[in-house]
Amino acid sequence: MRFPQAWLDELRERSDIVQVVSRYVHLTPKGGRYWGLCPFHGEKTASFSVNPQRQMYYCFGCHAGGSAINFVMEMEHLEFKDAVKVLAEQAHMEIPEMVGGREDAATKSQKERIYEANKQCARFFHSQLWKQENAQVLAYLYNRGLDDQTIRMFGLGSTPMRSDGATRAMRELGFTDDELVSAGISVRRDGRVYDMFRQRAIFPIIDAQGRVLGFGGRALGDIKPKYLNTGDTPVFNKRLGVFAANLLKKQRGLKRVILVEGYMDVIALTQAGLPGVCATLGTALTVEQARLLKRYAPEIWVSYDGDAAGQKAILRALEIFEQESIRSRVLDFPGGMDPDEYIREYGLEGLDSLTPMDAATYRMKQEMQGHDLSTQEGRTEYAMACAKHLAKVKEPVELENHVRSLMLATGFSREVLLAQIGRSELIEKEKRPAYSYVARPLEENQDGVDTETAAAEKQLLLLLAERRIEPGTVKAEDFISPERRQLAEKLISGMTPGAILENISDENARARAASVLQRDSGAGADGQLRMAGDCLRVLHKKRIEGKIAALQKEMAVQSGEEKRKTLLRIQELTKERQTAGRKE
Ligand code: UTP
Ligand code: MN
Repeated sequence: MRFPQAWLDELRERSDIVQVVSRYVHLTPKGGRYWGLCPFHGEKTASFSVNPQRQMYYCFGCHAGGSAINFVMEMEHLEFKDAVKVLAEQAHMEIPEMVGGREDAATKSQKERIYEANKQCARFFHSQLWKQENAQVLAYLYNRGLDDQTIRMFGLGSTPMRSDGATRAMRELGFTDDELVSAGISVRRDGRVYDMFRQRAIFPIIDAQGRVLGFGGRALGDIKPKYLNTGDTPVFNKRLGVFAANLLKKQRGLKRVILVEGYMDVIALTQAGLPGVCATLGTALTVEQARLLKRYAPEIWVSYDGDAAGQKAILRALEIFEQESIRSRVLDFPGGMDPDEYIREYGLEGLDSLTPMDAATYRMKQEMQGHDLSTQEGRTEYAMACAKHLAKVKEPVELENHVRSLMLATGFSREVLLAQIGRSELIEKEKRPAYSYVARPLEENQDGVDTETAAAEKQLLLLLAERRIEPGTVKAEDFISPERRQLAEKLISGMTPGAILENISDENARARAASVLQRDSGAGADGQLRMAGDCLRVLHKKRIEGKIAALQKEMAVQSGEEKRKTLLRIQELTKERQTAGRKE
């Protein structure tokens, strides 16, 4: 489902980004922009800028950037759709009908019915908990250290005595058997309909909007499965949500989210007074869940169980966080305890004394288990394995700490380790070892074009962003790098930089684009045409050079007449290149 394009365009026009941001950040005008303290990372001097002409914001410190809609999404932890609604309200615009939805009215009302059934059923389970006949379920929860307030906060419940008690109660509220089965509340067997959950403590799974998606049911004893969960239904997919999303949403300004494995871990830590705890639903972390969590805090701490499966899941989660550019740490509980056991034993102070590890430290610690550091061979292999992990650490100061501990563990010198990691540039010149290293490409160079091309393209983008040159002077095809060609296309079509950024979902790509689009072209009063001409000449020359290089490659495997023709073509292009380089 989407908003109509024309309506969105109008909303963008009517929502002045300076006003929108000013609701949260104190802004001071300077040099054609507005400046303030970045709300996305702690800072004492203003590096957060808002550019009203381009309808975009950009932080020079953390590279956050985007449109007014992006800003509201980040500040209020909202999805695109809901951020748009907030802005529409502020701009006094009526929300239009969504267009192009895949969902027809029938599925929509079926989903509504399931949400309603789930909500009523959660109430029913909760009320069962206080009944004498279900006393053993309440006793079970008390036994696990939960108090009444926590039980209410999470809406915990009990299944009823009868094997079809929930089904009957829901029928009485007007739900059909088909609805109950598709909600996963009931199951049909041999033509009869029973409750899905029997003799279990019930943990409702509630999303950020407060809707009940499904349930987890804990067996009271050693019955298998220990937890029975609602299967996939039209409203529930355990790969998408997390347990306790509703509580996350309520906590503003969280410094970190703690991700644990179990329902009971979330509840025990929350009861102990720790905010921002949630759990994946008995599965490995997915990209979707990582993106969801990212909205609530700048950092995520993973705290899975200490067993082998848990450790493997941690490594996998760290990879996902890295891929999604999410800062993460690992909070390891000693002695293989799970968070629930640990907090009951040592309390909140015990927890405060644990230091979360960064990803590289955790990975190095894991590597230690697979290598025998008492032999030279083991130390060498360990150093090589760790170097791979450390290649991902960008900040030199952070890297320095890791390198020091690796020196201690392996006996290799700092120079050798840095060379192995691929960061020899951090070694003082006279100490650099004789062997060469491959410098890693700078973020800016990731698009595979040389710096001269990149500079010319960026300059042209800025002239387009400033609307200093007539449309038609520059064409998208003039651009060589695909990423910047796309930006050019959009600028030429009349989109503001803000609106363009909004449509880039990949965080890294958005940061790259924002860092270009926030600049000034620096073109003087009427120097813009000359500047554009210079840039276009550079790109023209580069394109010819690219063709020449390609032909040279072809020529290497050609012979006879074919080769002669290619050579002639190269000669022509070389002449063309010479004139292209010159200004007319
Ligand atoms: P654990 O086995 O670590 O359970 O599973 P736990 O949270 O420590 O449970 P308690 O403390 O014994 O009550 C972690 C999570 O994996 C899912 C559940 O979400 C559980 O919280 N799980 C586990 C299931 O879905 N089904 C199972 O049978 C077991
Ligand atoms: Mn447990």
